[in-house]
Amino acid sequence: MTQSENRHALILQWLKEIKLYILEQKNSDLDVEQKTADNDLVTKMDRSIEEQLVEKIRRHFPEDKVVGEEGFGDGVSSMNGTIWFIDPIDGTLNFVKQQENYAVMIAVYEEGVGQAAYVYDITRDKLYSATKGEGVSCNGQRLAEPANLSLREGLIAASSALMMREDKTIIREIGNTSMGVRMLGSAGLESVEVAKGSVVAYVASNLKPWDVAPGLVFMEELGMSAVTFTDEPIDLLINNDIVFSTKNAHKDIIKMLNA
Ligand code: IPD
Ligand code: CA
Ligand code: CA
Ligand code: CA
Repeated sequence: MTQSENRHALILQWLKEIKLYILEQKNSDLDVEQKTADNDLVTKMDRSIEEQLVEKIRRHFPEDKVVGEEGFGDGVSSMNGTIWFIDPIDGTLNFVKQQENYAVMIAVYEEGVGQAAYVYDITRDKLYSATKGEGVSCNGQRLAEPANLSLREGLIAASSALMMREDKTIIREIGNTSMGVRMLGSAGLESVEVAKGSVVAYVASNLKPWDVAPGLVFMEELGMSAVTFTDEPIDLLINNDIVFSTKNAHKDIIKMLNA
């Protein structure tokens, strides 16, 4: 086994354990707490999943760095070396309010290049994964590259923060140009929607590195587009306004955002 095959096998094992842990604990008291606002929540599950993953990564890969949402990782100021991005539960609000539409996410980058990515939709038991050069798979079954549809030819996914709060009317115009807007509330699962071809684009503002790190690998593997609103590459050391999309929808959306 190569080092990356070994890492992939370990991650699959860890994700399987986390799924069992979530299913076992999800009906217990989640200790829901507010972070920065009344719709910015964290539960004991977010914290404990991140803590477990960080402990495992440090044990097996002591040289590597970890960037995680809930603060168990490292402070990282460059993309040098191997960096793991962990979002223990992406879609915490959905986890608390819907008990579905959330995902456990891991992405591994080496010297700034995405090597592996995992978005695990726990309730549907669908693990979306990618390893560099091998495309994107769902439960081991490779996804076809989506058709290169334009903005007019498909639905888009968007973050509700962007659609509801931004007062840039251009965002609504983009939605109106498309066939319709869908909002799931999980950046990871919305990246998967783009990878599956269910939507032609995912447009979202102020996403954190762990929200975008797996989707970026998926886009790369499928030959799709992943840029900021100003058509720059996405920088995983900062928060970004992002567009993940087909190549044709990318042209349409960037033209509208920068007109
Ligand atoms: C959030 C979700 C949401 C997105 C937010 C993220 P969290 O992640 O991905 O869809 O709009 O910007 O912060 O906090 O549930 O992991
Ligand atoms: Ca959060
Ligand atoms: Ca997230
Ligand atoms: Ca999270």
